[in-house]
Amino acid sequence: MSRKILVTSALPYANGPLHLGHIIEAVQTDIWVRYQKMCGNDCLYVCAEDTHGTPIMIRAQQQGQTPEQMIAASAAEHRADYDGFLIGFDQFHSTHSPENVKLTHEMYARLRDAGHIARRSVRQAYDEQAQMFLPDRYVRGSCPRCKSPDQYGDSCEVCGATYTPAELIDPVSTVSSTRPVWRESEHLFFKLGNFEAMLRQWLASGSLQLAVQAKLNEWFETGLQDWDISRDSPYFGVEIPDAPGKYFYVWFDAPIGYIGSFEALRRQRDLNFDEYWRSESATELYHFIGKDISYFHTLFWPAVLHGAGLRRPTAVYVHGFLTINGQKMSKSRGTFITARRYLQHLPPEPLRYYFAAKLSDGIEDIDLSLDDFLARTNSDLVGKLVNIASRCAGFIERGGGRLAATLPDPALYAEFVAAAGTIGALYESRNYSAAIRDIMALADRANQYVDQHKPWKLAKEPARAAEVAGVATQGINLFRVLISMLAPVLPQMAGHAERFLGVPLQRWNDIETPLLDAPLALYQPLATRLDPAVVAALVEGSDAAAAPAAKPAQTASLPNISLADFQKLDLRIARVAAASTVAGADKLLQLTLDLGGEQRNVFSGIRSAYQPEQLVGRLVLMVANLEPRKMRFGISEGMVLCASNPDDKTGIFLLSPDSGATPGMKVT
Ligand code: 2FM
Ligand code: ZN
Repeated sequence: MSRKILVTSALPYANGPLHLGHIIEAVQTDIWVRYQKMCGNDCLYVCAEDTHGTPIMIRAQQQGQTPEQMIAASAAEHRADYDGFLIGFDQFHSTHSPENVKLTHEMYARLRDAGHIARRSVRQAYDEQAQMFLPDRYVRGSCPRCKSPDQYGDSCEVCGATYTPAELIDPVSTVSSTRPVWRESEHLFFKLGNFEAMLRQWLASGSLQLAVQAKLNEWFETGLQDWDISRDSPYFGVEIPDAPGKYFYVWFDAPIGYIGSFEALRRQRDLNFDEYWRSESATELYHFIGKDISYFHTLFWPAVLHGAGLRRPTAVYVHGFLTINGQKMSKSRGTFITARRYLQHLPPEPLRYYFAAKLSDGIEDIDLSLDDFLARTNSDLVGKLVNIASRCAGFIERGGGRLAATLPDPALYAEFVAAAGTIGALYESRNYSAAIRDIMALADRANQYVDQHKPWKLAKEPARAAEVAGVATQGINLFRVLISMLAPVLPQMAGHAERFLGVPLQRWNDIETPLLDAPLALYQPLATRLDPAVVAALVEGSDAAAAPAAKPAQTASLPNISLADFQKLDLRIARVAAASTVAGADKLLQLTLDLGGEQRNVFSGIRSAYQPEQLVGRLVLMVANLEPRKMRFGISEGMVLCASNPDDKTGIFLLSPDSGATPGMKVT
């Protein structure tokens, strides 16, 4: 029976761009949701803009906009960025929506009527010039303990002391730069302590990761304090109905935004509210969040839900922070990479794949090492996965474009299908890195299968055409299993593979039956290698971001040559007539190059980047008058030209002419 599941990721604040820290969370959630959908579960994924609070109000003022204008622009930008990363929300809403205001009012009323709200007076910093109460972070001054200047109103970054803004020496409002005064105002509090027993029981039900449980236990030890849920006007938020001029603190209405977003979807799809938000058994509810906001999601939120008569989350899934090249994202180091910046440089799927390859069910930080990202996506996606399809497709094409009617190695196929059970369980438990490791081990096996059966050799004997078709059919079927298993991570590539294979890749179990005696569409490359210079340029101000001027040292270190010297080179276009690996030489391929009549034998160190059968038929540039070189395996009669980055051993890119060039043409 299919499960009914509602999933959320944290709502992004509407006052800044999405960065890769937001994206890793959305990707983690999206992979999980796509996997559930492939399994036939009824899984809904909702999110929204988090639109309220002092920072948003102040940012809008600074920009000369109303908060409404600013949050609308931010929502449009965020949506475009999430779309760019292929995040498949069922609903992306806003906490500034009528649904959310209504729900916030209703839930507050229920909490109040059940005796969970207290009122008492609070003394707080007030900016007389800006005529507003100041959140602690908007007051700065010298630390009362170590006297360091310019510290926040709640804690000192130098000595770690925590205090109230009233204790700061020489406090200053960051809004108007004037000295604040202290004023009393009545605030509303949510009595969190009323829920300790309930929270302890919820904790015991296994809804949280062990590390998060441990944190929660620490909070129980310190004692659950009442939570101030109100703010004084001016404030951009939801007004409190029975306290005019006061507003709900943004963290009160933000998680209610999950329900507000669901509510908007409920109307479109005619869903049952109670099934999702009252019953704890009819549906499952999961929140994916970062570890910085687990306090709100594991204490306040379940307590608020329970106090208002609603269900608690089935689980809260917490992930660690994203670091870049081993360090915290930093604007000054240029590693604060926005979603937009990434998308302007690179396609989304390599990063989705990389994140998947790093994500587990833990709360440890996840590092995006740009070198590793480049190497791994080039070697796994292009060198292993796509390679299986690209090396087999040509044989099917040349044999009439139809897969064979039987598999030559059904046992191998069955092994791949059997692995789907384990891999599915790894997706379910968010151990994506282990899932990717298993999938790539299978990709290696698929490539080994093709290597062992050498269809390019068999193809030379017309009598063995059926064998060639069999091997290629087996290879394409193994590829189908792999791309189906990767569809939650690589939805776009899976879409392209669907067109190539002519069958949908929407259901996890479809791979149980192999694809036989079926037409294949013409193969189009499913992924291309990432360029190291482009990856390096993700970091603002990096040498590579300033490319091509960034590498002058390399070129400048070679002496200038005269035109006459250059003209001594006989550069020609050649067609690869044959290609094979060289026994005993891991790095070499042996190429037969056709120069338009004349053939040359060339050994080239490109094996790490190319499979022999990918090259046959391809045009390349060669140095035709290089002195023949005697090698252990034979004589090399020239050299093919490649681009590579001398500092980086990951990329080798064969140079090819534009279409229209023919073998033998001289390159000038
Ligand atoms: O920390 C944040 O970025 C918040 N905007 C997350 C809110 S999640 C939910 F509770 F609304
Ligand atoms: Zn201090």
